[in-house]
Amino acid sequence: MQLTGSSGLVPSDTITGNRTRPDAKFFIGSGKVEQIRQSAAAHDADIVIFNHGLSPAQERNLEKEINCRVLDRVGLILDIFSQRARTYEGKLQVELAQLQHLSTRLVRGWSHLERQKGGIGLRGPGETQLETDRRLIGKRIKTIRGRLDKVKSRREQGRRLRRRNNAAVVSLVGYTNAGKSTLFNRLTGADVYCADKLFATLDPTIRKSRLTDELSVLFSDTVGFIRHIPHDLVESFHATLDEIKGANLLLHVIDINDDHRSRIDEVNQVIEELGATAIPQILVFNKIDQAGNGHGNGHAQARTEHGINGSCARAWVSALTGAGIPELERLIHSELG
Ligand code: GTP
Repeated sequence: MQLTGSSGLVPSDTITGNRTRPDAKFFIGSGKVEQIRQSAAAHDADIVIFNHGLSPAQERNLEKEINCRVLDRVGLILDIFSQRARTYEGKLQVELAQLQHLSTRLVRGWSHLERQKGGIGLRGPGETQLETDRRLIGKRIKTIRGRLDKVKSRREQGRRLRRRNNAAVVSLVGYTNAGKSTLFNRLTGADVYCADKLFATLDPTIRKSRLTDELSVLFSDTVGFIRHIPHDLVESFHATLDEIKGANLLLHVIDINDDHRSRIDEVNQVIEELGATAIPQILVFNKIDQAGNGHGNGHAQARTEHGINGSCARAWVSALTGAGIPELERLIHSELG
């Protein structure tokens, strides 16, 4: 639901099912298909979203039956990514993921046709088109990979330069919507796009800030983490987070009003996958302006239940009102010092 809102769609109905095994043709049972068809017609819906992965054939069969465009979870996330990507690298990452998603669909569709037609000499025009598409997509993927390599090596140079200039790098990480961009703006005075939507940030953004006369710090904002990132998107998701490996300190931003125990774990898991567990973290519990007197609880839970963050420094702030920011800045200073 949150994902749907992030893509700018307005949900008009939610239908759930409890099948134990997916149906090969439709993923769902035929009764459910009919229920969705009726609901889509009644609400004059433009699109039906499945919170699961669908095979290309299932997607096609459902579209025909329901008479409406069908999008699966990967398709929806890619759509959000493409709306949000702003820098050159972010756009390349998204295009790559979209093409990879598309190419698996084309390959499958093509081999299916080949089987049906029974081999050599029987190639129809449709098939030739698919082969051409596949070759063009393969070529484009290669070009994009080449460009991404260049962007990467340029960024590597930037990193080395920063080290030489003795600037400390602080990366903001955290679950999507935790308030990273708002905190980033607060700490740097920058005006980065932030909205009450998931993935408002897809690209690492970097701004300089001076905590004291001696210490100049580069803050970098990163893409929000989400639960159950689809398998084929993990690579591009991780690539956008590459930046944090060069950080001296991570600000792990947490929405104090969320179910933050599991979210802290999930963010830590990604940090581990990226090989960045050795970088010190400050746990920043954000949105205390909304929390009533609940932030004492957050403190206790995080302290008792998170081994990996056991010795982490903690701060309680409101990125929106500025409460707690001077204390956080002092903490950053002492962690870097
Ligand atoms: P992604 O880019 O999706 O990862 O989100 P993000 O973590 O960068 O969150 P962002 O800064 O875009 O904030 C998400 C929403 O939370 C926005 O509507 C902010 O106005 C709101 N928000 C951020 N910090 C605070 C805060 O301290 N208090 C309150 N009440 N709202 C906040």
